[in-house]
Amino acid sequence: MDTIQEYKPLDIQTPVSLRTTLSGQRFLVLKDGKYQFPIGPLGYIPKSGLCFYDVLAPIVNNKKILDLGCGEMGIISLISILEGASQVTAIDIDERCLYWLNHLKTKFHFNNLEIFKSDMFQAVHKKFDVIVSNPPIMPMPEINEKNIHDSGGKDGRIYLNKIMKDALSYLNDNGQLYLSAFSFLGTDTPTGKQLSLKQYALNLGYSSFDVVARKRKILSDNSLTYKQLPYIKTIYPYMKISTYQNKPTTEFQILRLCK
Ligand SMILES: C[S@@+](CC[C@H](N)C(=O)[O-])C[C@H]1O[C@@H](n2cnc3c(N)ncnc32)[C@H](O)[C@@H]1O
Repeated sequence: MDTIQEYKPLDIQTPVSLRTTLSGQRFLVLKDGKYQFPIGPLGYIPKSGLCFYDVLAPIVNNKKILDLGCGEMGIISLISILEGASQVTAIDIDERCLYWLNHLKTKFHFNNLEIFKSDMFQAVHKKFDVIVSNPPIMPMPEINEKNIHDSGGKDGRIYLNKIMKDALSYLNDNGQLYLSAFSFLGTDTPTGKQLSLKQYALNLGYSSFDVVARKRKILSDNSLTYKQLPYIKTIYPYMKISTYQNKPTTEFQILRLCK
């Protein structure tokens, strides 16, 4: 018989479950079972991307959305479509991600979803009401082919800074940009030598910057964040590490920037 398990990464509020068939095929189950999305060949099951559900659900109806760095399951695109977006554009630099999202598009007849390869905004030629990105944000000494889904460069902020800067030209008037970040990157308070992301955003001309979701991320011994901690501390010496159930934790945040 198939098994169905509640799926609650980062303690998300939206009900999500995982269905596994006898043959081992897994499905991400949303909307009380109405949608069952097969997990793709890379085996990527969204975690942090699902944190966007509660934030996006109330605001995407009838909106034009860009999902920058959509990943294999295109979870932010799927959330936007299920919650009534009028048009969704999903882009990624990794063609393996585009392949599976195209498969889901066809299988579920998502005719208002367009998908194409783009290095950041390079192939994007229109404007959006809402731009959403859960980009690579892990501080790592370099970005290479193996860590392209995770590495945000030396200070973890290469993509965040670039997206904040470039998105202004791709947002309609009153448009909004939603981004994920770790609190230790210095979102509203500096934790290293860099400006806070908030100050950087306001200097670019955004009218507001708010942390609209805060999720406790427990760092298990085998997690990438845990392994990177010694390096991260060299870049962000003022970062605070809390503990929960004797494990180090950090805060995963969703940021909202208004044009
Ligand atoms: C942390 S994953 C997020 C995936 C998905 N959006 C989610 O929330 O689960 C970051 C994604 O950004 C993509 N990416 C990395 N560099 C990129 C670039 N220069 N342009 C576009 N996408 C990029 C990666 O291929 C990966 O799919």
